[in-house]
Amino acid sequence: MGRLDGKVALVTGAARGTGAEIARAFVAEGAARVVLADVRDDLGVPLADSLGPVARYVHLDVTSEADWDAATAELAAGEGGLDVLVNNAAVLLLATIDRTEPAEFERILRVNVLGVFLGTRACLPLLRASGNGSIVNLGSIDSVFGTTLTAAYTASKFAMRGLTKVTAIENGRFGVRCNIVCPEAGNPEMHTPIVGAEDWPALPPDPERGPDRVAPAAVFFASDESRLCNGTELVMDRGHHAGQALDLPDFLFERP
Ligand SMILES: NC(=O)c1ccc[n+]([C@@H]2O[C@H](COP(=O)([O-])OP(=O)(O)OC[C@H]3O[C@@H](n4cnc5c(N)ncnc54)[C@H](O)[C@@H]3O)[C@@H](O)[C@H]2O)c1
Repeated sequence: MGRLDGKVALVTGAARGTGAEIARAFVAEGAARVVLADVRDDLGVPLADSLGPVARYVHLDVTSEADWDAATAELAAGEGGLDVLVNNAAVLLLATIDRTEPAEFERILRVNVLGVFLGTRACLPLLRASGNGSIVNLGSIDSVFGTTLTAAYTASKFAMRGLTKVTAIENGRFGVRCNIVCPEAGNPEMHTPIVGAEDWPALPPDPERGPDRVAPAAVFFASDESRLCNGTELVMDRGHHAGQALDLPDFLFERP
């Protein structure tokens, strides 16, 4: 028995990174169908092929209403509906506010906020028809706290958290839940050079903060195990933002 037996899911931004790990985990947990959506067809097509007959790839730009209409029509005709939507696709810009161009600010908000809004809006009829729908939004630790160099990204991720709350309270009555995962982990390939400091070396990847650390949370929110969760945010940051940790020696915390 898998934790997602019989469920039909669509994961945006699934060609690589966290979305790819989520798609892989959904297949492993017995989902009836997993649709991987992305703009990176070069990565998404072979990945879906490698996941077997349960998976298929669709080219879907989350900022395109026409792409969402086509994808939901295909889901209705081909899969007979949708139980789980994972709004995972996002883009990042590393720049101070002073060095953030308005067009770039808009680009980040288009993908990270408008994309989630359009996906949610397009998929709600199918999710309501499922009677047991779940929307899993992929936020970030930047949905809850600010980080230097991420004005556009943090603004977008806070907005996504707000959208999660409203989606939850409007749709619980129709059997659709909506929750947000707020990890500090993800794909290091998402990190682009810092605007104005392009020569700075990229931070080395941290195996403790890989996309595979995030996928289990998406499985939980997609599954019926989380049926009491609606509008919740799961912060995954090893306690870094739980409060102020004073820099004190270990012996003080050992049992006397
Ligand atoms: N990378 C991190 O350190 C980190 C940390 C916390 C949260 N997150 C969040 O995790 C999620 C997944 O990111 P990731 O770490 O796997 O990064 P990633 O860059 O590997 O994945 C993002 C995916 O979204 C796709 N995408 C971009 N624009 C798109 C569009 N318009 N339409 C459809 N797909 C589009 C990309 O092609 C890519 O496959 C994002 O929501 C991100 O904000 C990432």
